[in-house]
Amino acid sequence: MADWVSGSVVHIDNWKDNLFSLRIHAPVRPFTAGQFAKLALDIDGERFQRAYSYVNSPDNPDLEFYLVTVNEGKLSPKLRALKIGDKLLITQDAAGFFVLDEIPDCSTLWMLSTGTAIGPFLSILQQGIDLERFNHIVLVHAVRYSEDLSYLPLMRELEKRYNGKLRIQTVVSREQNAESLTGRVPALIENGQLESSVGLTISAESSHVMLCGNPQMVKDTQRLLQEQRHMSKHLRRKPGHITSEQYW
Ligand SMILES: Cc1cc2nc3c(=O)[nH]c(=O)nc-3n(C[C@H](O)[C@H](O)[C@H](O)COP(=O)(O)OP(=O)(O)OC[C@H]3O[C@@H](n4cnc5c(N)ncnc54)[C@H](O)[C@@H]3O)c2cc1C
Ligand SMILES: NC(=O)c1ccc[n+]([C@@H]2O[C@H](COP(=O)([O-])OP(=O)(O)OC[C@H]3O[C@@H](n4cnc5c(N)ncnc54)[C@H](OP(=O)(O)O)[C@@H]3O)[C@@H](O)[C@H]2O)c1
Repeated sequence: MADWVSGSVVHIDNWKDNLFSLRIHAPVRPFTAGQFAKLALDIDGERFQRAYSYVNSPDNPDLEFYLVTVNEGKLSPKLRALKIGDKLLITQDAAGFFVLDEIPDCSTLWMLSTGTAIGPFLSILQQGIDLERFNHIVLVHAVRYSEDLSYLPLMRELEKRYNGKLRIQTVVSREQNAESLTGRVPALIENGQLESSVGLTISAESSHVMLCGNPQMVKDTQRLLQEQRHMSKHLRRKPGHITSEQYW
């Protein structure tokens, strides 16, 4: 049984109608960048709880979560309706293995995300620990429209902070935009556009690929990397090149 603690909403970013970030103050125990907590609300005597990835660095006491409202969803529309000062429940302990400790050394670490799944990568990059073992890091944020790139200013800040080691690449699927690649991640790997735009290759010899977000993106990309790049899923008992987390 999870240990729940009460949290207060201290800040809300309303990025667009269905995209928002909550900052919460709560007495949680230390977490590892890349992990998630569960947030919950008691509604009409029933507790609704769902997993949400930490966006903040573990050393930042403002606990930040980046959410999309799922139409007809049970919890996300209720979280969307919270106001500053409102209370919610949060698990005291974080969970999950989508963390750098699980990633083997390699030359290029690829961080591929869709939608709100940029969160765990931002937590890892904001903390900035244990990254010296990679020569290059590539952060890819794939969304429907460029207005869904809520954290682009932070991504640009991180790019500067990492002084050439971090390359960022945005992808939009439902419009053309000069700043971003257009399409979906697996197709952009298959046709070579992602690697040519970033200037680095994805290979079993040089790379580890972290995939987070839309389950179909995760599955399709994994299959492509297995079939066309001879990469394999990374397991503790059998090291490989792909680590993933699906949001639903
Ligand atoms: C490890 C982990 C971390 C997560 N981190 C985040 C996060 O940081 N931010 C975030 O917004 N969500 C995150 N999620 C998803 C989140 O836990 C909920 O599933 C989501 O908020 C929907 O909950 P709901 O109660 O509103 O919808 P529900 O009533 O549970 O679900 C309705 C249906 O919507 C679909 N669905 C669920 N999530 C999504 C989604 N994001 N996009 C499209 N369809 C979806 C599912 O098919 C589901 O059956 C994470 C999930 C996991 C497993
Ligand atoms: N983003 C919005 O403006 C918006 C608006 C209203 C409601 N919503 C709701 O919010 C929820 C989440 O939306 P979201 O936009 O955050 O996430 P999403 O639907 O997972 O889309 C994020 C990105 O993943 C891509 N994708 C989807 N399937 C893929 C696959 N098999 N391989 C590779 N890439 C794939 C999408 O491309 P495609 O565009 O090609 O699918 C999009 O670029 C949905 O329930 C949606 O109905 C979103």
